[in-house]
Amino acid sequence: MTFLVTGGAGFVGSNLAIRLKSRYPKERVIAFDNLKRRGSELSLSRLKQNSVEFVHGDVRSISDLNQFGEVSTILDCAAEPSVQAGLDGATQYLVDTNLLGTINLLELAKKYRSRFVLLSSSRIYPFKVINNLKYKETETRYEMADPIIGKNGISEEFPLTGERSLYGATKLGSELLLTEYASMFSFEYVINRCGVIAGPWQMGKVDQGFLVLWVAKHIFGGNLNYTGFGGRGKQTRDLMHIDDLADLIVTQLDSGLSNDLYNVGGGYERLVSLLEVTKMVEEVTGRSINIGSIPETHPNDCIYYNTNNSKVTNRFGWKPKRTVIELITDVKDWIVNNQNLLKPVLS
Ligand SMILES: NC(=O)c1ccc[n+]([C@@H]2O[C@H](COP(=O)([O-])OP(=O)(O)OC[C@H]3O[C@@H](n4cnc5c(N)ncnc54)[C@H](O)[C@@H]3O)[C@@H](O)[C@H]2O)c1
Repeated sequence: MTFLVTGGAGFVGSNLAIRLKSRYPKERVIAFDNLKRRGSELSLSRLKQNSVEFVHGDVRSISDLNQFGEVSTILDCAAEPSVQAGLDGATQYLVDTNLLGTINLLELAKKYRSRFVLLSSSRIYPFKVINNLKYKETETRYEMADPIIGKNGISEEFPLTGERSLYGATKLGSELLLTEYASMFSFEYVINRCGVIAGPWQMGKVDQGFLVLWVAKHIFGGNLNYTGFGGRGKQTRDLMHIDDLADLIVTQLDSGLSNDLYNVGGGYERLVSLLEVTKMVEEVTGRSINIGSIPETHPNDCIYYNTNNSKVTNRFGWKPKRTVIELITDVKDWIVNNQNLLKPVLS
C-alpha cells in the first residue's frame, strides 16, 4: 500500500505521516509538500529518521501528483490554513491550493479508488451565526448563556448559511466535491471537521497556531496581544492534541472510513480562553511576559468554538485523551529541546 500525505512536512501532515509509518511499518508513506509554510523544512530530517519518504511537489500540479502511480490512501493535509488568508487581496494561492489542490487529489482517488481522508475545519460554520449566539462574560472567559448548549458544543447540525471566510469556503467546497466524487466513483472517505489542533512541530504564528506561539513567546521572550472582542483575552476555543487526532485517524483507517463527516475537537473539557491559556503557560514554563490589548476584532474572527464530539465518539469510540496542560507541556518540552532550531522561526 502507498499512503500519500499532502502537506506532509506541515504540522498535521508530518505528525500523521510518522504515525502511519509506525502503525503500518511495511507500507510506503510519502510526505508530499512544497515547503511553502515557514519552518516546514525543519520536518525533513525527522521524516527521514522515521522512514517516511519526502517528495517536494505542489498539489496545484496534476503532474506532480501523478508521479507516484497507484496510491491506496490519500490524506489531504496541504493547505493555506489561515482563516485570515486572502484578506489582503492575495486570494489566488489560497483557492488554488485548498480547493483546486483537493480536486487534483480527487482525480487521483477516482483513478485508483484511493481511500480519502479530508482534514476539514470547524471554520466551515459561519462565524457571524456563532458570534450572534448568546454569551455571558465571566472573570476569565465568554461562556454560552445556555449552559446545556455550552456544554454540548457545536454539532454537525449547526446551520451553514452565512459567511465563513474564504478559507472556510474552500474547505466546505472540498467537502462537497469529495462527497460527490466518492459516491460517483465508489471510494471510501471520511471528513474530519477539526477545531483548533496544536502540538509539537506546529510553526505557530499570530494568524494560525496560537497555542505554540503563546508558549514560544514565553520561552524566547517577545510581545503578544489579546486581539479582538474588546482585547481582554476572553474568547474561547477547545484545543485538541495532535496525538489525539492521530489516534482517531488510525482508528478510522483500521475500522473503515465510514463515508461520513464528523466534528472533531477537544470538547468542553478542553475549552479555554486566551486569558486561561496564559495562566497555564505561565505555570508550565515558569515565565511571564507582558501581553498587550488590541480591542478591534479581525474580520472572520470567532468569539467561541466548542466541538460536539458525540457523532465521532458514537461511530469510532474515540474521545480526546490529552489535557490542555499535557498539550502545553509537550509543546514546551519540544521547544526547549530544539531551541536552536526553532528560535529563528518561533521567536
Ligand atoms: N492546525 C489546525 O488547528 C487545523 C484545524 C482544522 C483544520 N486544519 C487543517 O489541517 C490541514 C493541515 O494544517 P496544518 O495545521 O498542518 O498547517 P501547516 O501550514 O502546518 O501545513 C500545511 C502544509 O501544506 C504545505 N503546502 C501549502 N501549500 C501547498 C501546495 N500548494 N502544495 C503542497 N504543499 C503545500 C505547507 O508547506 C505546509 O507544510 C489543513 O488542511 C488545515 O486546513 C488544521
